[in-house]
Amino acid sequence: MIKEPEYRSVDFSRTTITELMIPSYANFGGKIHGGIILSLMDKVAYACSARHAGGYCVTASINATDFLAPVNVGDLVSLHASVNHVGKSSMVIGIRVESINVTTNEKIHTNTSYFTMIAMTEDRKPRVVPGLILENRKDVRRFLEAIRRKELIKQYKSEFSETLSDEEIQGNLHRLEEERCMVIDF
Ligand SMILES: CC(C)(COP(=O)(O)OP(=O)(O)OC[C@H]1O[C@@H](n2cnc3c(N)ncnc32)[C@H](O)[C@@H]1OP(=O)(O)O)[C@@H](O)C(=O)NCCC(=O)NCCS
Repeated sequence: MIKEPEYRSVDFSRTTITELMIPSYANFGGKIHGGIILSLMDKVAYACSARHAGGYCVTASINATDFLAPVNVGDLVSLHASVNHVGKSSMVIGIRVESINVTTNEKIHTNTSYFTMIAMTEDRKPRVVPGLILENRKDVRRFLEAIRRKELIKQYKSEFSETLSDEEIQGNLHRLEEERCMVIDF
């Protein structure tokens, strides 16, 4: 059996996917569907994580995908992915998306997102991934930022109850007074 390396550098798995935005990717407004970009992000996150892990991975969660600018038909979209953080079986993949106007070469940063990917064994159980070698200030900053995001997500999940009880709704009804809605019945 081949022994897995214990640590891998960020550069080892750094991955870029570039794709031309063809007319069939457009939405009804003539811009590129957000879903097309999300699908490309999932692909680059998979490739980057599978390279770091040396095997099959699945997407566990996606954090923060703000679309900052629309992407046009005819643009080239480049997605740059790198491992920002590793846990035991999880890897946070940071993805920066840029659109490039091929006629003017103008580049626009359209979104940044963080995908948590889990390395899996053949019988679909999480498996330990190599650690991450942090070679410079940027690698260290991204690792620390990922830890902070994880802590905030954990805190949010523990404080945010998905279903409000009738009592909680009653206690919060006054908040709707300044919202653009009409309560007909409750
Ligand atoms: C993601 C998945 C493997 C986690 O399985 P699990 O039994 O909860 O595994 P564990 O509790 O042992 O956690 C394994 C790791 O996943 C992480 N994890 C689990 N759920 C997570 C979530 N929602 N977000 C981020 N990380 C998560 C854990 O923190 C842990 O990380 P660590 O090993 O670095 O400490 C499982 O939920 C799964 O298979 N989900 C479906 C994935 C899939 O099909 N994706 C495609 C989407 S269409």
